[in-house]
Amino acid sequence: MQRTLPKPSELRQQLVFKRIDPNRRRARLRGATDVWDLRRIAKRRTPTAVFDYVDGAAYSEHSLRRNRRGFADLEFAPGVLRDVSAVDLSSPLLGSTMRMPVGIAPTGLTRLTHSEGEIAGVRAAQRFGIPFTLSTMGTTSIERVADEAPTAHRWFQLYLWKDRERSLELVQRAAAAGYQALIITVDTPAAGARLRDVRNGMSMPPTLSLKTILDASYRPEWWFNYLTTESLRFANFDGSKKTLSEQVNSMFDATLDFDDLDWLRQNWAGALIVKGVQTPEDAVRVFARGADAIVVSNHGGRQLDRAPVPLHSLSSIRAAVGPEAIVILDSGIMCGGDVVAALAAGADFTLIGRAYLYGLMAGGEQGVERVLELFRNEIKLVMQLLGVTSPAQLTPDHVRLFPTRQDRA
Ligand code: GLV
Repeated sequence: MQRTLPKPSELRQQLVFKRIDPNRRRARLRGATDVWDLRRIAKRRTPTAVFDYVDGAAYSEHSLRRNRRGFADLEFAPGVLRDVSAVDLSSPLLGSTMRMPVGIAPTGLTRLTHSEGEIAGVRAAQRFGIPFTLSTMGTTSIERVADEAPTAHRWFQLYLWKDRERSLELVQRAAAAGYQALIITVDTPAAGARLRDVRNGMSMPPTLSLKTILDASYRPEWWFNYLTTESLRFANFDGSKKTLSEQVNSMFDATLDFDDLDWLRQNWAGALIVKGVQTPEDAVRVFARGADAIVVSNHGGRQLDRAPVPLHSLSSIRAAVGPEAIVILDSGIMCGGDVVAALAAGADFTLIGRAYLYGLMAGGEQGVERVLELFRNEIKLVMQLLGVTSPAQLTPDHVRLFPTRQDRA
């Protein structure tokens, strides 16, 4: 074999050194190729009890895993030889046009997960043209979120308290601050039993036990931010210090029933979305009470363990409520392909909770932007590979939810 030594000029062409980004946060986020990478970064940077609050679910966490398995096990049915050079992700929803078919779900205690909290979420949502939902259990006020992102699609999530007058006050504040939709969560007559929180002694605000202090030594940035920013509190009502489940249990009302939906409908002029519907019968009843949309959700597995997997309930719910009813899906969505699958299976829109919080914990507002960027890129690519150019073209023919089941073969 004849060998020649490479010329220095040839070598120079092949050796391409990546420029080191002096902005470490940006570099860290750029290196994350999916939500799971962001989750790994989040886990390193966030105290265990806080990370587990986000990452965990009820009891044995069967629902958490089954939600994911639903998305992992499905099979897409692509159409080839379609012109997919121009893809438009925009999605009409409740009188607005969202720039892609995914929004941010309500999440509690968000400033605990990262000091930038809800402001990071709503600003990123504004930039990406998608809805952001502020939770009743939020840690930034209704008014401040509105001020920080005046042109965002803002939704407010309500837990209806026993004290209806107090709840009404929140609804009125949301209306005055220009929130376009109210999401009432109905799968929480009592707080789910999240065993990780119980084991971690998760309280609000966090207490400084010896364990917490040791944990803090590995996460100096989180603790520095936590101790030097506005102290953590439920920003929309008075929350005295209790364990998380005491706090949450005092908030939920086990007497809530369908008549309360009528009451809410009378008191809210904007779009009314009912979140936590899990069966076709309930979906029909909720629409009959004047809801504008439902969210088929098992609360990310955080309430009833072994609840139905929302992805699997979609077709029967869609069949029951008809093609015009607005059906949103959450629970288990971790990537753009999951969004596309949910739309094909019958949803009009989707929401993300954990995926958003992993990004937030990994890098504040920029981390949320990274999540949304990853979702946008993947939704577009998966649609192209399926042979469609807009979300409205997705149909049940594009997805087989149970590809290995004999009866579906
Ligand atoms: C609140 O809704 C939670 O799931 O923690």
